[in-house]
Amino acid sequence: MKIKTCAVIGAGTMGSGIAQVAASTSGLNVIMNDIADEFVDKGFNTIIKNLDRLVFRGKLTVAQKGEILGRIRKTTNIEDVGDADFVVEAAIEKLDFKLNIFKDLDKVCKAGVILATNTSSLPITKIAAVTGRPELVIGMHFFNPVPVMKLVEIINGMATSKETFEITRNLAEQFGKTPVEANDSPGFISNRILMPMINEAIYALYEGVGTEEAIDNVMKLGMNHPMGPLELADLIGLDVCLNIMQVLCSSFSDSKYRPCPLLKKYVDAGYLGRKTGKGFFDYSAK
Ligand code: 3HC
Repeated sequence: MKIKTCAVIGAGTMGSGIAQVAASTSGLNVIMNDIADEFVDKGFNTIIKNLDRLVFRGKLTVAQKGEILGRIRKTTNIEDVGDADFVVEAAIEKLDFKLNIFKDLDKVCKAGVILATNTSSLPITKIAAVTGRPELVIGMHFFNPVPVMKLVEIINGMATSKETFEITRNLAEQFGKTPVEANDSPGFISNRILMPMINEAIYALYEGVGTEEAIDNVMKLGMNHPMGPLELADLIGLDVCLNIMQVLCSSFSDSKYRPCPLLKKYVDAGYLGRKTGKGFFDYSAK
């Protein structure tokens, strides 16, 4: 089946980024779905803002911006996703929620359509098992900010077919990304490595080994990371980081993944990072 239309479920930070990238790929139509108009509109406005920035910098013409936006269809009706030839789900990271979405997608989507999930750590195999097409379910893990980051981690569930993997890999390349293959295991490759590093940085802060600035500067200047781990945690969202550490800790039954109490405290306080204006750093003035 030739992929002409791609649906993205969830219009948040990741979903809108994926929709932008998909629509910027020549010829691909995008169905952008979320549960309420306000969420779809917010995601669409983020895309407009990003494209405006590209126009301002001379990387896109006004006409090209119009064409990209014209390829995106907004909807809150999951039935509309039935027109898609490929689906990427990027809704909230709650397993029960995702299982329900996949049950619905399995019902409304045409036979043979691949259902990909952008989950950052939930089991692909389990998500696939609630559908009648487990061989067509795969992980397609994008990175924030999606329009900028080159990587797409492609995760094979237990039943994912080789053909599903190849089609997904080709699509990631069509999106201008570099796909890397991983197998289904908690956190896959990316978050298995990244999240314990961020968690350890939070422990270093908790134990007074260094200040926020010192910890981030060590990783930026000593290891050439573009952002320090605490600033990166703020970008990702501290609730997301905590959730992934909890998945690692419970899935491996290994205390080496225990979330730092300070991370829990920040989440309890509602200091979730950039999105709330405060995390390890203050963004209220930005
Ligand atoms: N959306 C779209 N474009 C953006 C953007 C955004 N949110 N933020 C930055 N950009 C673009 C800018 O327009 C600019 O484009 P240009 O080069 O064409 O002019 C380019 O990115 C560089 O931006 P800036 O000059 O403003 O800033 P920096 O050079 O400091 O780069 C950064 C910003 C790309 C975010 C860089 O700091 C970085 O790479 N940080 C690390 C990000 C990272 O590790 N992400 C992965 C998180 S983990 C994850 O997502 C997985 C999940 O499961 C947890």
